[in-house]
Amino acid sequence: MSIDEAKRLAGIAACNEVQSGMKVGLGTGSTVHHTIVELARRYHDEGLDIVGVPTSLATHALATELGLPLVELDDVEGLDLVIDGADEVDASFQLIKGGGAALLREKLVAQASGAMVVVADDRKMVETLGAFPLPIEITRFGHGTTVGAIMNVLGCKAELRMDGEAPLVTDNGNFIVDAHTGPHLTHPANSEAALLRLAGVVQVGLFIDMCDVVHLAGASGTERLVRSGGRLA
Ligand code: 5RP
Repeated sequence: MSIDEAKRLAGIAACNEVQSGMKVGLGTGSTVHHTIVELARRYHDEGLDIVGVPTSLATHALATELGLPLVELDDVEGLDLVIDGADEVDASFQLIKGGGAALLREKLVAQASGAMVVVADDRKMVETLGAFPLPIEITRFGHGTTVGAIMNVLGCKAELRMDGEAPLVTDNGNFIVDAHTGPHLTHPANSEAALLRLAGVVQVGLFIDMCDVVHLAGASGTERLVRSGGRLA
C-alpha cells in the first residue's frame, strides 16, 4: 500500500468518531485532508450535521471550498472533538506536531476539545519522540536570541524554518524553529515546560496527554488505538 493510500484510509476511518450535532476541530495536513473531504461528503450526501473549527488558513480554505459550515473557536463553548494529523506518536500517545507550521492553532483547538483523534500512517509511530525535528513557534522579535536559547535548553542544533530565501511566517505572523534533538525526548513534558519558559517561545509542537485515539494505517489496513484512561477509552 502506498503512503498516500495509508493516509487516505486512516483519514476516512476517523470519520466514524463523528456524530450529527457535533462541533469538530479540523486539523491540518495531508492525512486529515482525507478526513475533511469525507466529512464534507457525509455532510452533503448523508445529512451529517456538523460545524467545524479549522486549525489553519489552509484548512479554512479547504473546508470552505468543500461547503462545510465553519465557526470561529470563540463562537462556541468548546468542541466535541478534534481530528488532526501528527508527525510522531509514541507508545504513550504523546505527539510531535507542527510539520505543517500550524501547531499553535492546532494546540488551541485541541485544548478546547473534549477529545483528540489522530490520523496517521504507521511510519509515524516511534519508540521515543525526536527523530522528527521538533517544531517550535517563536516571535519574530529577537528570533536569533530565541534560537540560541532553544539550542541551550535542548542541547542540540536548531534552525529557523525557511520559505525560499525568507523565514517561513505562520498564520499567526510568527516564525518556526525546528530543533534537531534526535530520538531522545524521553521526558517530553519536561522539554515542553523548559521551552515555554523562554519569553520568545510562543508554543511548542509537543502535545502531551492530549491524544485519546489514533487511527493508524499500515500494510494490513487500519487500526484504532485507544489510550488507556483517555477520554474515549
Ligand atoms: C501541521 C501538523 C500535521 O498534522 C502534521 O505535520 C502531519 O501532517 P501529514 O498528515 O501531512 O503528515 O502538525 O502543523
